Amino acid sequence: MSTSVLLTGGAGYIGSHTLLALHATGLKPVVLDDFSNSQPEVLRRLEELTGAPVAFEQGSVFDSDLVARMVDRHQIGAVIHFAGFKAVGESVADPLKYYRNNVGGLTSLLATLQGTACRSLVFSSSATVYGDPASVPITEDFPRQHTNPYGHTKLVGEDVLAAVAASDASWRFGVLRYFNPVGAHPSGRIGESPNGIPNNLMPFVSQVAVGRRPFLQVFGDDYPTPDGTGVRDYIHVCDLAEGHVAAVRHLLAGNPGFTVNLGTGKGSSVLDMVKSFEAASGKPVPYRIAPRRPGDVAECYADPASALALLGWQARLTLDDMCRDSWRWQEANPHGYGG
Ligand code: UD1
Repeated sequence: MSTSVLLTGGAGYIGSHTLLALHATGLKPVVLDDFSNSQPEVLRRLEELTGAPVAFEQGSVFDSDLVARMVDRHQIGAVIHFAGFKAVGESVADPLKYYRNNVGGLTSLLATLQGTACRSLVFSSSATVYGDPASVPITEDFPRQHTNPYGHTKLVGEDVLAAVAASDASWRFGVLRYFNPVGAHPSGRIGESPNGIPNNLMPFVSQVAVGRRPFLQVFGDDYPTPDGTGVRDYIHVCDLAEGHVAAVRHLLAGNPGFTVNLGTGKGSSVLDMVKSFEAASGKPVPYRIAPRRPGDVAECYADPASALALLGWQARLTLDDMCRDSWRWQEANPHGYGG
């Protein structure tokens, strides 16, 4: 029998792409999602893409009875904990929402799992835990810092896992530090569907290209980078999804826990992104230079060598692939899953 993997937040952007990757390798995804930042329509599309029903329960990671029941019924071998909030600005305005959901949700989930047979969990961490790095590329042993409550919840989440693992050797945790996930499934059927004005670069650029917004604001052109704009490690969400499959397989094979960067190792600037998106879409992406965004760093990109050495995983897709797939999704779904 194939092993079942519980995806908390499995209807979200990264969760939904990971579900397809797990399905393709013969693992059996089981979704728990409360639709606080996703739509039921994604499940219908996942069923269409996999040709199979999606095992799904609507509910919260705080619902201990529900989680325990799902773990037992599906004989869950590992959990991937995607369910978390990720908007930096909102976390500054409403920190308790973030500490409650991101930290409280994790501790509640772990406490529930403690009463079940499942002891393996993959955690969605972020390159945000490196704060403003002293140099690039970033290796996993760089010091961790935080500059906002969202970043702090990821850092605390990592610390919670370390403490729990130290308390009981049967736990095994895979901590994945995502760099900048972008793009969409090549089918154009699933992708990122942000509510309201997007905070992140790629969704904003694609909404400009499709005509939903008049222009992009480029936050700063005086950084010490080749063209003066911020440099990031954009990673195709399908590559990221494969990283989760590799992480889960590694834990299921009985290996010890680990912490790895999931990035490409290549930095791209805001203007690189604009150019690549214009080429992929054939549409202009007008932009205006605006002041730096508070809290932004000049350059952030991964050294992804550990993930290759440990998990045999590396990113394969380029910035052009990311823009092409993002555009295909945006063009076919100008309002995301909302129509
Ligand atoms: C941001 C968060 C980070 C979080 C990540 C999640 C901040 C300060 N950081 O990272 O904590 O983990 O999202 O994906 O919010 N840019 C523009 N115009 C825009 C939007 C962005 O010029 O309208 C620039 C930014 O200045 C930056 C680059 O594009 O140089 C990427 O920005 P973004 O997509 O928001 O990602 P991060 O800032 O890396």
